[in-house]
Amino acid sequence: MAAPLPPRTDDWWRDAVIYQVYPRSFADGDGDGSGDLAGVRARLPYLAELGVDALWFTPWYASPMVDGGYDVADYRAVDPAFGTLDEAEKLIAEAAALGVRVIVDIVPNHISDQHPWFRAALDAGPGSPERARFHFRPGRGEQGELPPNDWPSEFSGTTWTRVPDGEWYLHLFTPEQPDLNWDHPEVRQEHEDILRFWFERGVAGVRIDSAALLAKAPDLPDFEKGVDVHPYVDRDELHDIYRAWRAVADEYGAMFVGEVWLPDAERFARYLRPDELHTAFNFNFLTCPWEPVRLRAVIDATLAEHAPVGAPATWVLCNHDVTRTVTRYGREDTAFDFATKTFGTPTDLDLGTRRARAAALLTLALPGSVYLFQGEELGLPEAEVPRERILDPMHFRSGGTDPGRDGCRVPLPWTQDGPYAGFGTDERNEPWLPQPAGWSAYAVDRQSLDASSMLSLYREALLIRRTTRGFGDGAMTWLPAPDGVLAFARPQGVQCLVNFSARPAALPAHRELLLASGPLDDGGHLPGDTAVWLRV
Ligand code: GLC
Repeated sequence: MAAPLPPRTDDWWRDAVIYQVYPRSFADGDGDGSGDLAGVRARLPYLAELGVDALWFTPWYASPMVDGGYDVADYRAVDPAFGTLDEAEKLIAEAAALGVRVIVDIVPNHISDQHPWFRAALDAGPGSPERARFHFRPGRGEQGELPPNDWPSEFSGTTWTRVPDGEWYLHLFTPEQPDLNWDHPEVRQEHEDILRFWFERGVAGVRIDSAALLAKAPDLPDFEKGVDVHPYVDRDELHDIYRAWRAVADEYGAMFVGEVWLPDAERFARYLRPDELHTAFNFNFLTCPWEPVRLRAVIDATLAEHAPVGAPATWVLCNHDVTRTVTRYGREDTAFDFATKTFGTPTDLDLGTRRARAAALLTLALPGSVYLFQGEELGLPEAEVPRERILDPMHFRSGGTDPGRDGCRVPLPWTQDGPYAGFGTDERNEPWLPQPAGWSAYAVDRQSLDASSMLSLYREALLIRRTTRGFGDGAMTWLPAPDGVLAFARPQGVQCLVNFSARPAALPAHRELLLASGPLDDGGHLPGDTAVWLRV
């Protein structure tokens, strides 16, 4: 193996591996059944040893937790369930000492209905400056009994709620998440101050929640079919907001990753122009089925759309909103779509796991940065959370047909023995979401002893990716390959082959087999749903 490369200090985000921590489910330091920052601090050595460059924390701020903390009541305070601001500062410093950066999550589209701004807006009444920070409107109909427009919610149902004085307010998500008015100078100033608050505390980057939804058409018109400009998705006004944010980030050398769900490549790339966001999540890759022609097309489109703006691609298979990878790949429909989620979908977890292992090598060999969702390195499946334990508003707002997103948020298994697979420390306090039977089979301690486990595969892959020239940022070239096989070359003779077909594929002549996602067959061929890294 080549000599280890020195750690990168500049533009580290161009090819970083970023691990998403969902603090409520990561590790429970105080044993109350709910994960916390003490739990994360105790497990920082695990994350450093895994070999990730940065941690992205879903919101840890003070919140009533109606939407898993995406309903923020105070950006400058850590929720007491997670710990204190002092602990967050210590965590950032301790991670940095281990060479791991911290990214926080900012939710600019909306705040909690318990935030002082919204409480003040309710008290102050119609026409007040306090209401101007939100989208309050009189209703339609004779008595104002109808909502001001026809916008559907991102979480199904209505986007308007009426307050006792008769006015309505806009919320693209739940009623507990009122949308902010981004035409208001105080809204803009406040968010720039919040960015500074966290950059001053040493965070290296910010994930921007619902980044393409902030700007609304001024008069909040109904949807008009056939009109190109959407009243609240991807409006041109957003780019000024992000240019201002970029100026703040540049003062601190910090990076952004935007949650931008936009299938249109050209519109997506606008967010990644040199004076806007550094990166954005690649949802076209996440939603793509396990199918070579489709995946190759998404990879090509991704690289083509990023190249003109000079931004690196990101590769994402999973996060706290979507079905876990091993489950999705073990189903008949291997694509992800919020609209088609149902209870009781038949799943072949062995098949899904083989594919997820191959997908890990595919993803980690592509040029750009990679996001890993906690538990992905353990090959955790999506849990089917019993209906009576579901907390996710997406489930309730669908009228109970959508299982919601709790199935990927179940607390992690750390040890084979001990309360709740080592997530907790106290038998009396069951985790906030129940762990399915057999969860301890996925425990970190058990997988650490098994060279063929998902965890061992990730550890090895991340080590090789970090220490071998040819991975990370840089060029990639497709190589000729049989039907059903994707093969591509990276610099320095690194090659990646993924076999999607049932037919074993011959490997090209090579100097070294760096890593395989599963055993080769007796003839040294690459079996189906298996990937290898070679040096030729
Ligand atoms: C984003 C988050 C999701 C949250 C929503 C509203 O999509 O990833 O978890 O529910 O925004 O803030």
